[in-house]
Amino acid sequence: MGHPYWPVFDLRLSVADLELRPMTEADLLPLAELLPDDVELDPAATRYPGLSEAANRRVIGFQHYWKSYGSWRPERWRLPFCVRAGGELVGVQELEAEDFAALRTVYSASHLIAPARGRGIGRQMRRAVLALAFGPLAAEAAVSSAWQDNHASLAVSRALGYRPNGESRHRRDDGVDTMRYLRLGRSDWLAGTGADGVRIEGVEPCLPYFGLDAGSSPAEAGD
Ligand SMILES: CC(C)(COP(=O)(O)OP(=O)(O)OC[C@H]1O[C@@H](n2cnc3c(N)ncnc32)[C@H](O)[C@@H]1OP(=O)(O)O)[C@@H](O)C(=O)NCCC(=O)NCCS
Repeated sequence: MGHPYWPVFDLRLSVADLELRPMTEADLLPLAELLPDDVELDPAATRYPGLSEAANRRVIGFQHYWKSYGSWRPERWRLPFCVRAGGELVGVQELEAEDFAALRTVYSASHLIAPARGRGIGRQMRRAVLALAFGPLAAEAAVSSAWQDNHASLAVSRALGYRPNGESRHRRDDGVDTMRYLRLGRSDWLAGTGADGVRIEGVEPCLPYFGLDAGSSPAEAGD
């Protein structure tokens, strides 16, 4: 039986040998132990005096999780998925939106443990959440941003059909750096093969949580 009050926990996405499950409290410690040093966290997040930088980074991960579900509203949600490859925990893929029912635009963020990178997993897990967004959630657009030197993230977006959508300069560390923006429109997604082989289960009871009418969704995707 599914969760009686938070059906989001029962969502399942799978593609090839990847499974994406909404993160739960039980995942936090294993994920903290696997958190790569190069994953960029909110620079404005609370840091506790007396803790090492490594410990503070992990605390930020916990608070990010609690905030995701604790501040979830139909108008503004962030869904963190744990990603397992062949059953092994390898990373996190998030999907988020603001004013989704009106704007129908999703954002994504992700990271993988170092040994899992460069094997196509990043592309597959982004594909899985895009299939959810453009399928049952009927998104009109997905947007992504990455620093100009984040070649892997930019390449994942390009490979999935995102188009350049501008750039902006920001303060970063002690200097200034360029953030690149990319956008994938619904028609480009539907014209491609991105949804092929992605299985999505358990979305129907979640629709009101995403700000959508129950029963408004096209049939759940499957291969
Ligand atoms: C971003 C990330 C999730 C991508 O996942 P990944 O599994 O490494 O990427 P993939 O193996 O799926 O590769 C996808 C594409 O990126 C390219 N790519 C991967 N790593 C690359 C690198 N270091 N330099 C250049 N291109 C790279 C691949 O060749 C592939 O391109 P193609 O489809 O045109 O052949 C992963 O690298 C990561 O966790 N990075 C650190 C965290 C991070 O930066 N997150 C994003 C924040 S915006």
